[in-house]
Amino acid sequence: MRMYDLIMKKRNGDALTEEEIHYMIDGYTAGRIPDYQMSAMMMAVYFQGMDAEETAALTLAMARSGEMMDLSAISGVKVDKHSTGGVGDKTSIALAPMVAACGVKIAKMSGRGLGHTGGTIDKLESFAGFRTAISSEQFVKQVNEIGISIMGQTHDIAPADKKLYALRDVTATVDNMSLIASSIMSKKLASGADAIVLDVKTGSGAFMKRETDAFALAKEMVTLGNLAGRKTIAVVSDMDQPLGRAVGNALEVKEAIDTLRGEGPEDFTKLCMTLGSYMLLAAGEAATQTEAEEKLAQVIEDGSALRKLAEFVEAQGGDSRAVYDTSLLPTASITEEIVSPQEGYVCKIDCDEIGVCSLLLGGGRETKESEIDLSVGLILHKKAGDFVKAGESLATIYANDREKAEAAKKRFMGAYHFDEVQPEKQPLIKGIIQ
Ligand code: URA
Repeated sequence: MRMYDLIMKKRNGDALTEEEIHYMIDGYTAGRIPDYQMSAMMMAVYFQGMDAEETAALTLAMARSGEMMDLSAISGVKVDKHSTGGVGDKTSIALAPMVAACGVKIAKMSGRGLGHTGGTIDKLESFAGFRTAISSEQFVKQVNEIGISIMGQTHDIAPADKKLYALRDVTATVDNMSLIASSIMSKKLASGADAIVLDVKTGSGAFMKRETDAFALAKEMVTLGNLAGRKTIAVVSDMDQPLGRAVGNALEVKEAIDTLRGEGPEDFTKLCMTLGSYMLLAAGEAATQTEAEEKLAQVIEDGSALRKLAEFVEAQGGDSRAVYDTSLLPTASITEEIVSPQEGYVCKIDCDEIGVCSLLLGGGRETKESEIDLSVGLILHKKAGDFVKAGESLATIYANDREKAEAAKKRFMGAYHFDEVQPEKQPLIKGIIQ
């Protein structure tokens, strides 16, 4: 078999066989196939697409390119959750303890963020001393003991995807449905969970700006997961404005804690309840949606979800006192209000731009090597549909540098749009694919 022939085959619009896809992925992972040939292949896939069989073969080949985590030493159904990402998305930090407090085993691998705000792993490091680089043995032991662990993704999980994603990122071949679906699902399949609940975001702060694309991606990923024998469900949710009110690492952790106390923002709480209920159903911990939501409401009400977060933070070396006293989380030295220049309804927020404000304050990474300032970010006081008077605060900025605060403020002002009439409220949950 020759890579040249495979590139030509795909360029001409023909489907690759499973054997050819395995040859290509194994060769690329091992360094036998050079970047320039793989770049040409990715561009050919971008223009010609891949059919369902090819996408499934690519997903499995990438999943098997490294370690396939064996979670069989953990009893019960292990459920994983994955979000395609967005601004203010702190879901895992509240959701994982909620679901674990209901008795479902959470054995989750998460990533760091690039751009916007940090990833789940960065956010968890807001707890002083929190360790995410733990061994697979410790991970399994902790899940068996307390029902929850979140670790950083190891280099051994889907190394083919890691290499290929970096290549796609610099060759304008990221935004192809088959490539995105196989990239995400290869990592999820290799991480070993029995069931997977996906949160596919759509809107101005999401990868998939258009709802139709988000649904297509959700369908593709659900098919891939189910084909591989993992029960997979996707929730398509709104990311046309930031989720909740907090954007920025420690601020988001505080909002997740507030939510576990029953004092979270309405949209964020609803998303946690929806995703959580599907996780409980997938694990067989509830028979109906209503029963699942009642169980989740109960663990918030009786404080067991909050205690589960503290137990989890403690088990991974973090300062769990911050769960009960959030003033112990990293705190910025400067706070400033951004006031509205006019009266009216907030009709649209450019969600990506709010993410950029957090990045400008130092809350995200420009490059993989950048250090994150965990304390900075924004709290939004007005969201789409809210009425605001001239001079009223739209948001509070948390910063450690006046110049950066000014830059973020300027950017923020361009992201809010006003109208005289109240816009129609957009639903948070757009649909469920299972
Ligand atoms: N996230 C991934 O992990 N892979 C993609 O291709 C896109 C988003």
